[in-house]
Amino acid sequence: MSDSQRRYQLSLTSSLIAFLLLFNFSSPEPLAQTRPNAKDLLRQMTVEEKIAQLSQLPGFPIPEFTQQVGNPEDVIRKYGAGSVLWVSDPKQINRLQHVAVDESRLHIPILFGLDVIHGYHTIFPAPIAMASSWDPKLVEAAQTVAAREARAAGIAWTFAPMVDIARDARWGRMVEGAGEDPYLGAAIARAQVLGFQGTQPGAQDRVLACAKHFAGYGAADGGRDYDSSYIPEEQMWNTYLVPFKAAADAGVGSFMSAYMDLNDVPATGNRWLLHDVLRETWKYSGFVVSDANAVHSLITHGYARDGQDAAMKAFSAGLNMDMASGTYLKYLIAEVKQGHIPMQQIDDMVLPILEAKTRLGLFEHPYVDETRIPQVLNAPESQELARTAVQRSVVLLRNEQNTLPLNKSQTKSIAVIGPLADAEADVLDMWGAMTKPGPTVSILQGIKNKVGDTVHVEFAHGPNIRRDIPSFFENVPFVPVKEQPKQTPEEARKAMDDAVDLAKRSDVAIVVLGEIALMSGEAASRSSLKLSGGQEELLEAVAATGRPVVLVLVNGRPLDISWAAEHVPAILETWYSGSQAGNGIADIVFGDANPAGHLPVSWPRNSAELPLYYNHTLTQAPEEAPRFTSRYWDALSTPLYPFGYGLSYTTFGYDNLKLSQSEAKVGATLDVTVDVANTGNRAGDAVVQLYIHQRAGSASRPVKQLKGFQRVTLQPGSRQTLHFKLGPEELQFWSPASKKWVVEPEQFDVWAGDNSQAKLHAEFRLSQ
Ligand code: NOJ
Repeated sequence: MSDSQRRYQLSLTSSLIAFLLLFNFSSPEPLAQTRPNAKDLLRQMTVEEKIAQLSQLPGFPIPEFTQQVGNPEDVIRKYGAGSVLWVSDPKQINRLQHVAVDESRLHIPILFGLDVIHGYHTIFPAPIAMASSWDPKLVEAAQTVAAREARAAGIAWTFAPMVDIARDARWGRMVEGAGEDPYLGAAIARAQVLGFQGTQPGAQDRVLACAKHFAGYGAADGGRDYDSSYIPEEQMWNTYLVPFKAAADAGVGSFMSAYMDLNDVPATGNRWLLHDVLRETWKYSGFVVSDANAVHSLITHGYARDGQDAAMKAFSAGLNMDMASGTYLKYLIAEVKQGHIPMQQIDDMVLPILEAKTRLGLFEHPYVDETRIPQVLNAPESQELARTAVQRSVVLLRNEQNTLPLNKSQTKSIAVIGPLADAEADVLDMWGAMTKPGPTVSILQGIKNKVGDTVHVEFAHGPNIRRDIPSFFENVPFVPVKEQPKQTPEEARKAMDDAVDLAKRSDVAIVVLGEIALMSGEAASRSSLKLSGGQEELLEAVAATGRPVVLVLVNGRPLDISWAAEHVPAILETWYSGSQAGNGIADIVFGDANPAGHLPVSWPRNSAELPLYYNHTLTQAPEEAPRFTSRYWDALSTPLYPFGYGLSYTTFGYDNLKLSQSEAKVGATLDVTVDVANTGNRAGDAVVQLYIHQRAGSASRPVKQLKGFQRVTLQPGSRQTLHFKLGPEELQFWSPASKKWVVEPEQFDVWAGDNSQAKLHAEFRLSQ
C-alpha cells in the first residue's frame, strides 16, 4: 500500500470512527413512543391538512405565493406543511418547527429542504469533480459528511443527487452531475444516495436524498438551460433513465421532476415519467417534488390553461409535492371537495411524505440542538476528507517533459497568475457557497501553505472576468457568489502587463483560469467554450515569456483549450474543488499526491462539436484514418481528450485481457480479467475501465459502452490482476424493435484500458 493510499484509507476510516463516536451510530437511541403510524395519522387529517402536506412553502418572501395562499407561517399554524424550502438558519428552523409541532392541530413536523449538493459546511469538490475520482466509496464518504453537517443544522432533506446525463458542455448544469455516461452515472448516484441516507431508518446524522431532475433535463436543445428536450424512448431507457433507476434501487427517498418539456410534455405534468416509468415500471414508493414553482410554470409552458388546470395536471401525472408555487394549496382543496379527486388518491400521495418524516425520525426529534452544531461542523476529519477528495478528483490533462510535479527545492520563485487564483467563494461553486461554508483555502493560499518561506510566491490577478449577460442569481440576496468588477480597457491592460512582468521575473508560472461560479450551474449555459474575458490572451502572453507554465483550470465544464493543449506543457483540470481546493491542488502540483482523476465527459475541441459523447452508435463511415478522419471538413470531430482520460505521474501498462468463455449462452455471466502494471517509478492509482460493444442486433449498439471500472493503487513495478463480470445486467439494452430489455445472441467486443479509446481487445459470442 502506498503512502497516499494508506493516508486515504486512514482518512476514510478515521472519518468513520469519528462519526461512530460522535453519534453513537452503532447503538441508535431507542425510538420514542411518539412516532405515529402514518396511516393512522392520515385517518385524522382534514383535506386542508392533507394538501398542506403536499406543499412545500417558501422559507423566504415570495409575494406571489403570499398573494395566492397567504403568509406561509399562518398556513403552517393552521394546517401544518409538508416542507419548507431554503431556510438554513437553525434558529429559524426551530422557530418554524415549533409553530408546526406546538401550534398545528396534528403536530406534524416540517421537513426542511435545502440544496446540500456537495457539502454543507465542509465543501467537497463539485459533483463533476467527485465523478472524476471514479471512486464511489469516496463519494459516499463525502455525502455522509454532508448529511451529518446538514442534519445537525436542521436540514433533513437535500435536493441531491443530480443524476442528469450531460452530453453538451454548453449546458451550465453539467457541473452538478456525474457527466455523460450512464454506467458511471449510476455508480455515482448509488454512492450518493447511500452517503446521504445511510441504511438505518431514523438515524440522526442522515438526510433524505432526492434524485433530480426527472428526467432528460441535460438534453436541453442547444445546451440552453430550461429549453425543451427531445429524447427518443430508447435513449431514455438506455441512457437518461439509467442513473435514476440506480438511485431508486438504492432506496432514494424522493425524486424531483425537471423544469423542461420532455417530448412536448413538461416533466412536472408528464404522466409517462411520473406514473408509467416511476410507479408502474419501477414500483417506486417514495414521493416526487416539483422543481421550484414548476407546477405554476405549467401555465407558462402553454400546457395548463390556468392554476386549477396546472394543479390537476401535475397531480394526475403523479406529482406529490408542489415546490413553493402554492398552486396545490390554492386549487386542490376545492377539487377534492367537489369530488374531482377521490380521497383515496389524495391519501396515496400524502402517505409517502408522512412515511419519509417517520423514517427520518422527525416526530421524535423535530428540533435542532444548536449547542451541538459547532462540534459537528468543525470536525477536523471532514476537512481531511475534503482534501483527499481534491487530490483524488483532479485530472492531469497534459504533462510534457514531466513539468509536474514541481520540485520545491529547485524552485526559487513562483508566479501565481489569474483571476481565479485567489478566489474563495468561486472555488466552492454556487451551491457550495450557498449553504454555510466554512473557511476556504484558495489556490494561491494552498501554494503558499505548501512552500512556506522556502519559495518566493507572488500573485498577479490579470484582467477581471465577467459574464456578458449577468446571472439572475447575482441579485438574489442569499447568493454569495458575485461577478468580478467591471474594468476599463486601461485597467485590464495594466492587469495583463503586471501579470506578464511577474511571470518574467519568476522561475515558473502557475496560471489559474476558467469560470467564476456564476458562469456554471443553473441558468449558466454558454454558446462558446472559450476562455473568456482576456484569459486566453493572458495565457498566451505568459507562455510567450518562455517560463514554464502550469495551467490550472477552475470551471464547471470542459473549456476550449485547443491552444493550451499544444503550447502549455502542463494542464490540470481541478473543476470547483471546495473548501480544501488550494491545499489539495498544491498536494498535486508539488507531488505529495499523484493525480488519478479521469474525465467523466468527452472533452470537445470547441462548442461546435457539441453534443459530443463517446458512446454514440456506429455510422457507415466511422472516423478512421485514412478515409474519414473527421465528419467536418474544417475541423476534427473527435474529442480533444476522450471520456475516461487522465494522466498520472507514473505510467501503467495493460495486458492479459481474458474472458472465462469465448462462447456462452444468453443469460450467462462471463468473468473478465485484465492485468495492470505500474511501469513508471512512483506509486500511483490506475483507473481501469472495461468497455463492450455488441456487433449486430435488433438495433445499432454504441461503439463502446463502459461496463466496469476499478481504481487501484500500484507501487512502481507491481502488477495486479483485476476481475470484472459481464452478465445480463451489463449486456442487456432496451430494444426499440421489441420495446423491452433484451440480451441478444450476438458477437461482442471487450476492451480494457485507461480511457474510452482503450485498445486491448478480446471478444466473445452469446448464443441462444
Ligand atoms: C431549482 C433547481 O433547478 C433545483 O435543482 C433546485 O433543487 C431547486 N431550484 C431548489 O433550490
